[in-house]
Amino acid sequence: MSKSPTAQDAEEEEIHFSRVIATFRNYLRYSLAANNRRRKDLFTIPRADRELIGRVGYKSKLDEVDKAIKVNADFLDLIVSDPAIFGHNVDSTSPEEEHPNDVAEAPQHGGPSGQHGHSHDHEHSHDHGNHSHSHGGPSSRSGTVASSDFDMDKLRSTIKQFVRDWSAEGKEEREQAYAPMKEALLNHFSDIPPVERGNFRVLVPGCGLARLAYDIAKLGFACQANEFSHYMLLPSFHILNRTDQIEKYTIYPYVHSFSNVPNRQAMLRSIRIPDVLPSDLPSGANFSLVAGDFEEIYGETEEPEDGTPSAGHWDAVVTCFFIDTAKNVVNYVRIIHQILAPGGVWINLGPLLWHFENNNTNDPSIELDLEEVKSLCREIGFDISVTSNVPFVYTKLKHNIHSERTYHSDNILQQL
Ligand SMILES: C[S@@+](CC[C@H](N)C(=O)[O-])C[C@H]1O[C@@H](n2cnc3c(N)ncnc32)[C@H](O)[C@@H]1O
Repeated sequence: MSKSPTAQDAEEEEIHFSRVIATFRNYLRYSLAANNRRRKDLFTIPRADRELIGRVGYKSKLDEVDKAIKVNADFLDLIVSDPAIFGHNVDSTSPEEEHPNDVAEAPQHGGPSGQHGHSHDHEHSHDHGNHSHSHGGPSSRSGTVASSDFDMDKLRSTIKQFVRDWSAEGKEEREQAYAPMKEALLNHFSDIPPVERGNFRVLVPGCGLARLAYDIAKLGFACQANEFSHYMLLPSFHILNRTDQIEKYTIYPYVHSFSNVPNRQAMLRSIRIPDVLPSDLPSGANFSLVAGDFEEIYGETEEPEDGTPSAGHWDAVVTCFFIDTAKNVVNYVRIIHQILAPGGVWINLGPLLWHFENNNTNDPSIELDLEEVKSLCREIGFDISVTSNVPFVYTKLKHNIHSERTYHSDNILQQL
């Protein structure tokens, strides 16, 4: 059972949120400073070498990178122009008109429609495929809130994640993961006419930038996305609710690392987002984005204020690159089993790159292998119907991905 948030939780949450907002706002200064460091380093090498470097075009590339960083910063500033929408007390926000159809709900406790919240990014990061390391670069400040290299790394990962989730360029990579999951969902509900899909509730925990959840809503299902990282929530909110034009924004996702770059075109390549119009959902579509910790929100066993219990509420749970974010995967599997309706399906795809493995934050980490995860699922009450292993790319790094459809035991005998 999850505990109610305390005043201290709320205060920590405010501090954390301010820090995230500051990171978005510090991006320009921080990134330009990192680029400027490259210029300064030129003065540490012999003059003749510097002149040679000048002739190969390095310095003019640095100027181009500055310009790209400014374009990124404009986009990031837009995203955090109104942080008050998340109910937090952050400075310099101008009140905007109300947007009654926004796809978002406040951070929550007590089931999918609860009122209180406690959402946060855990402080241990392990991106799938995003090789990022920091070299103690400049630490930046906005007002009194500092951003660390770690914060900035998270923001840069978000910028890259936009390519996969919301650009035409990312389609191939995106569909490697999302297409089989959507297909599995459609197969499971193949007896249901498309116009009736809205009667079936699909939950997408750890939704990242929410593209898969959007696609599922677009198929006509009632879909709820859940995510606890503000580095994901703020950008997805902006894309889903504040974007009125396809390819409205240009960003430069590749300007932050100078390592292993074949040429300047590769580094200065821009992408346009989004590739679809998120507001273009069918009328009456039921799509929401819930901020908060999956275990706290959906693992709540007490009846929430609005009387909508999580247990047995969902017809499908779809997890993509999510289950290895658990400290204790038993709890994830147990919650998923508990919240599925009889006959419900869990569709899972992703590797087992345990996020908390080797953490230095003293967090526990239960690191099962694939066979153990499958046995655990059976122990908890699932029957596993389809499994496959596919080679895979996630933000451009190859992984072997485990893909499976896991059926709730109540209906697997009918399925087989
Ligand atoms: C590897 S990313 C995958 C994101 C997305 N599903 C995708 O495929 O692009 C894992 C996501 O789960 C989120 N996450 C991790 N633990 C969570 C939790 N306990 N509750 C909600 N979201 C969580 C992270 O913030 C992150 O966005």
